[in-house]
Amino acid sequence: MAVGIYFATTTGKTEDIADRLHPLLNGSNTPQDLADLQDLSPLNDLDAIICGIPTWNTGADSERSGTAWDSMLEDISKLSLTGKQVAIYGLGDSSTYTENFCDAIEELHQCFKDAGATMVGYVSKDGYTFEDSKSLIGDKFCGLPLDEDSESDMTDDRLMSWAIQLKQEIPALN
Ligand SMILES: Cc1cc2nc3c(=O)[nH]c(=O)nc-3n(C[C@H](O)[C@H](O)[C@H](O)COP(=O)(O)O)c2cc1C
Repeated sequence: MAVGIYFATTTGKTEDIADRLHPLLNGSNTPQDLADLQDLSPLNDLDAIICGIPTWNTGADSERSGTAWDSMLEDISKLSLTGKQVAIYGLGDSSTYTENFCDAIEELHQCFKDAGATMVGYVSKDGYTFEDSKSLIGDKFCGLPLDEDSESDMTDDRLMSWAIQLKQEIPALN
């Protein structure tokens, strides 16, 4: 059973979170920078995938991340990932970009959903302070939002809770 962690980053925060998440998830592979991938074929060999994506393209309808994810989105949608669980965490700033908090989670979530993956790792909006986010589905974010700019003191607890949740939702982590 194999669980991959893939991230893309501009200033390093999404990579740092991948490095902090990895030891909380026994059985997950060493985090990989998406920018180092030639193509998406390694994803086909995994039982589950955890993705980290920051939001930089404020308010955009598409290519919201401003990282290597943007050029992969179309190809991800065309993969055949039925039977695999996919969970997404996002980095954003709920204070400065409060009307677009972690918008990029939703865009990546939709692509993996289109590929047939079972989406897991949804998180209640309770405990977050923000105006709006495209990543809200009802009362839940379709992934884990993290804010290292304005709420870094909450990150450890959020990561710990998410890791416990993922162990329940992803059989390959057990
Ligand atoms: C120009 C700029 C635009 C940003 N746009 C958003 C945004 O729309 N929504 C959001 O939640 N965060 C936004 N952020 C905050 C980043 O997502 C945040 O700093 C994140 O931790 C960066 O992750 P990285 O270091 O992995 O690139 C923006 C930051 C900058 C500098």
